Amino acid sequence: MTALKNDRFLRALLKQPVDVTPVWMMRQAGRYLPEYRASRAKAGDFMSLCKNPAFACEVTLQPLERYPLDAAILFSDILTVPDAMGLGLYFETGEGPRFKKTVSTLADIEALPIPDAQQDLGYVMDAVSTIRRELNGRVPLIGFSGSPWTLATYMVEGGSSKDFRKSKAMLYDNPQAMHLLLDKLAQSVTAYLNGQILAGAQAVQIFDSWGGSLSAAAYQEFSLAYMRKIVSGLIREHDGRKVPVILFTKGGGLWLESIADAGADALGLDWTCDIGEARRRVGSKVALQGNMDPTVLYANPQAIRQEVSNILASYGSGTGHVFNLGHGITPEVDPANAGVFIEAVHEMSAKYHQ
Ligand code: CP3
Repeated sequence: MTALKNDRFLRALLKQPVDVTPVWMMRQAGRYLPEYRASRAKAGDFMSLCKNPAFACEVTLQPLERYPLDAAILFSDILTVPDAMGLGLYFETGEGPRFKKTVSTLADIEALPIPDAQQDLGYVMDAVSTIRRELNGRVPLIGFSGSPWTLATYMVEGGSSKDFRKSKAMLYDNPQAMHLLLDKLAQSVTAYLNGQILAGAQAVQIFDSWGGSLSAAAYQEFSLAYMRKIVSGLIREHDGRKVPVILFTKGGGLWLESIADAGADALGLDWTCDIGEARRRVGSKVALQGNMDPTVLYANPQAIRQEVSNILASYGSGTGHVFNLGHGITPEVDPANAGVFIEAVHEMSAKYHQ
């Protein structure tokens, strides 16, 4: 494999010294970029982008052509796993994801297969190896998956939800059924992420987008426990390099100490916590990724630079910080403002690494 030309993202995750703070953005390939919208129109729809490795590669690289990002993220979706379990994922324009089949009884859950990464999700593995070849060592490639709890909410609700009423009712009415679903998802996600790592993903992130909707006790039992199980089953070294694991629980700020104990290398932070305080709380156990409020990108360049400067100052000196947004970039952001953000991170962070 080609040697990495820019490895500061991997180095920061492992708390090794870096020259400047590395930066990437969740959802960096997406609708705020006109070239993404053009590729999606050419492919026909979102799922055709995901299922065709050439298209997935094309859109993965688009933000890297525009900005000096320090990592690429596989273009795909967390819902490919429930799709491969037979639920039939589709997207209704303007409505978000939907499933043809949902899961509501213990019998439904017992019938769910554990997908085979190569056979059932081979298009994702092909996308990973195609992207690695095209990147040619420019920056590392991040693979990803949803957390079992986050995937379970979509499978039980049949799509996005504001209140998670069916999935939370199942959790309290029939915890045994919910545990079986989460256990099957943990097995599926472990195999899926290991497949991505073997295909060439150099770091992996688990998106626990809806863990923060749970009570403190339910978070431990129904979300964190299964992420811990996944982390313990992942391939942690491949091709002579460590493969860092990032856990991102949106809304998990109250539980950072226990998330830091789950065995991952880094925690993703949303914008509701102060990153300096988070650093003091987790100590030297893990690196931190985050955490600018994505809506700051609607403000003017001076305000964006000020916010970057505040977050860098709050984290302070030394490695262990990967700059990111606290959640995905939104479709209405002006691409020029994303450029201001990324350049500000590199320019203003050098003094913290002397
Ligand atoms: O970060 C990246 O650039 C990689 C690509 C990526 C996508 N989805 C592409 C996508 C990643 C990492 C995801 C993860 C994902 N998908 C999550 C977890 C991250 C988070 O935001 O918390 C979730 C919850 C999903 C499920 C999902 N997929 C939803 C709710 C939607 C609709 C969202 C919307 O804004 O309409 C999707 C579709 C989706 N996934 C799009 C993209 C670029 C938009 C599809 C389009 O082109 O219309």
